[in-house]
Amino acid sequence: MPQPTPTPRAARPRTLTTESGAPVSDNQNAATAGAGGPLLLQDQHLLEKLARFNRERIPERVVHARGSGAYGYFEVTDDVTAYTSAHFLGAVGRRTETFARFSTVADNLGGPDAARDPRGFALKFYTEEGNYDLVGNNTPVFFIKDPLKFPDFIHSQKRDPFTGKQEPDNVWDFWAHSPEATHQVTWLMGDRGIPASYRHMNGYGSHTYQWTNAEGEAFYVKYHFKTNQGIRSLSSEQGAELAGTDPNSHQTDLLQSIERGVYPSWTLHVQVMPADEADGYRFNPFDVTKVWPHEDYPLRRVGRLVLDRNPDNVFAEVEQSAFSPNNFVPGVGPSPDKMLQGRLFAYADAHRYRLGVNHTQLPVNAPKATTARNYGRDGLMAANAQGRHAKNYEPNSYDGPAESGSPLSAPRPLSGWTGTHEAPQHTKDDDFFQAGELYRLMSEEERGRLVANIAGGLSQVARDDVIERNLDHFRAADPEYGARVEEAVRELREG
Ligand code: HEM
Repeated sequence: MPQPTPTPRAARPRTLTTESGAPVSDNQNAATAGAGGPLLLQDQHLLEKLARFNRERIPERVVHARGSGAYGYFEVTDDVTAYTSAHFLGAVGRRTETFARFSTVADNLGGPDAARDPRGFALKFYTEEGNYDLVGNNTPVFFIKDPLKFPDFIHSQKRDPFTGKQEPDNVWDFWAHSPEATHQVTWLMGDRGIPASYRHMNGYGSHTYQWTNAEGEAFYVKYHFKTNQGIRSLSSEQGAELAGTDPNSHQTDLLQSIERGVYPSWTLHVQVMPADEADGYRFNPFDVTKVWPHEDYPLRRVGRLVLDRNPDNVFAEVEQSAFSPNNFVPGVGPSPDKMLQGRLFAYADAHRYRLGVNHTQLPVNAPKATTARNYGRDGLMAANAQGRHAKNYEPNSYDGPAESGSPLSAPRPLSGWTGTHEAPQHTKDDDFFQAGELYRLMSEEERGRLVANIAGGLSQVARDDVIERNLDHFRAADPEYGARVEEAVRELREG
């Protein structure tokens, strides 16, 4: 990318200043007591520069640390007002400014983009009714279905506390004890497991969400963002090479594509289930390890997402962006999916730790098409007093903002006893059926690559019982699948 030509020093129009705006006389030589003497404590510019530098990093995201972001818009192309009253989806042609952040999951900040790993697909729609965050992945399903297992799952995929590196033993040990992961493992080890770039992958809400229309009728929906660039993926060998030669390959691709004016876009489709069909559906519709086959609930087109502007500053706008699955707008809400419910807590809590209680006032996170009006004030870095004389309590006699009285989502009935429960089983629910269906959909070549990718990781596992448990899962999905993985693992271990 062309770099701007440096302006000669003498011709620079503006004087460098300290952070409080005073002119800096020398930015090359720190002040000393005499030409060869020690530094002077009165050199404010030096102290400020060194102290700021020490504070330039904030805690990285505990997952999805490495990512890239861009702005754009979402435009409605098809009428979905029968299903949702959400204003931003309420008229064909309506455009809503959007910010997207894509990410890898398991590695720390600085990890390679071309890893075999799910990709985050997080969207912030700056709607007139507040910001709506849809925080999904490039995979329609997930590894686990209960939020209680999430910290253990992530610990097993990230660096080991003793060796300080990712360990196949931990990765596969967790999966050995989590048969519900078989579907997502099959997906991840298959051809789409290493996207060629963020532009060449689909995005999914993964969870089921609830839409409510203007009449108060409830529907359950799944979001599918289909890439208009076409799906492109890397083989394990291509991924390994690119990870070494260009660890920032996805960042480079997204940045350069948008700078060149080649704007990536995705077409949003939804699957819509009338809420009353949920209980009787053959799969538990609130189990994020399962898809809804399209023959049951076809895709309906909604609109398109276009990304056309790079952020000016990666730290301010990408590192400090904060998405929370419980940022809903009227007409869109959560389903009872337990994983999703766990996430409704986890993200905003993470942001308060990572960015502080006033992270919603940062430009990338603040509403753009409306304003936040509430009684939250103060806290670290508070910058939005919400007007002169604005009261910080409610109810009040000063025309402060008051509740709307309209629920965001239609209420749904509940029954049962409190306590810890396994997810309800529907008629076709088990941990393996859909994994087997995915395997059976693959061509012979795809199956071969899937088996080779799994065997490449599983053969590195030290314990035979961990390998055996994993083989049991693949056998349960499809006997041929299990037999082929077993043979490939044996060959690698014996060879
Ligand atoms: C109970 C399960 C889960 C928990 C507790 C959880 C928790 C978290 C946390 C704490 C972060 C870091 C947030 C930050 O510091 O900004 C995060 C990031 C993220 N998670 Fe999850 N997660 C869960 C499941 C999922 C699932 C199922 C998906 C996809 C369907 C997902 C997609 C993402 C994405 C895309 C990001 C990065 C957002 C960004 O770009 O800033 N997570 N998750």
